[in-house]
Amino acid sequence: MSSTIHFHRSDTYTGMSAAAADFIVQAIRDKPNLLLCPATGNSPKGAYATLVDELRNQQIAHTLRLVALDEWVGLPVDSPHSGAFQVRQQLIEPLGIHHYFLFDGNFTDEAAELQRAGHYLAVQGPIDLCILGIGTNGHLGFNEPGDYLHALPHRVRLTETSRGHQMVAGAARAPDYGITLGMKDILQAKKILLLVHGEHKRAAMTAFLRQEITPRLPASFLWLHPDVTCFCDAVAVP
Ligand code: GLP
Repeated sequence: MSSTIHFHRSDTYTGMSAAAADFIVQAIRDKPNLLLCPATGNSPKGAYATLVDELRNQQIAHTLRLVALDEWVGLPVDSPHSGAFQVRQQLIEPLGIHHYFLFDGNFTDEAAELQRAGHYLAVQGPIDLCILGIGTNGHLGFNEPGDYLHALPHRVRLTETSRGHQMVAGAARAPDYGITLGMKDILQAKKILLLVHGEHKRAAMTAFLRQEITPRLPASFLWLHPDVTCFCDAVAVP
């Protein structure tokens, strides 16, 4: 895997999570008030848990800021299926982050919600470290594959693949729409960390590794970014 993206493959999910956590710790040591943009989902969960432990154990002081990557539309922030709930539980609360922006998936005024995200980034951005997962269909955040992509925060009709994500499996109804930062917001991040876990990611990763940049595979745009590191496990990239 020779490329401009730095790849680190671990045999296990635990190994991948530990390596990714070390990477994030180093980024926080380098910039204690880092603006973090964390994906939700299964791939980064282990890294977040290890990160929390490491920052505590090593008594690393920080004033982290955080901006949400995406959210399911229609889920209130206190729904355990929402991204906001998971980010609060996995990062904001255990790390004592006071300065953050989370989407409210249950918004009543879409334009205002998008503007809130744009405003937070305009004032606090660019993102220092954007932690991404890849969808089984190649999406980034909720930038879904299609004829074109969007630069800025936007609402998006979700593909059936995304609606089938485990996060919303127990929700009364899988959301039809998502809200997400756009490709420009993501690609303006100073550093990007891509975490990929699971056999079900193999096809997306095979396509990604072709280095063919296409809106049909939004993750392929990461090949345009100068500082991307990918931690994957051996079942995702055999
Ligand atoms: C979800 C989220 C993304 C996440 C991706 C991969 O749809 N909206 O932010 O990165 O899918 O999730 P997982 O790591 O659970 O496979």
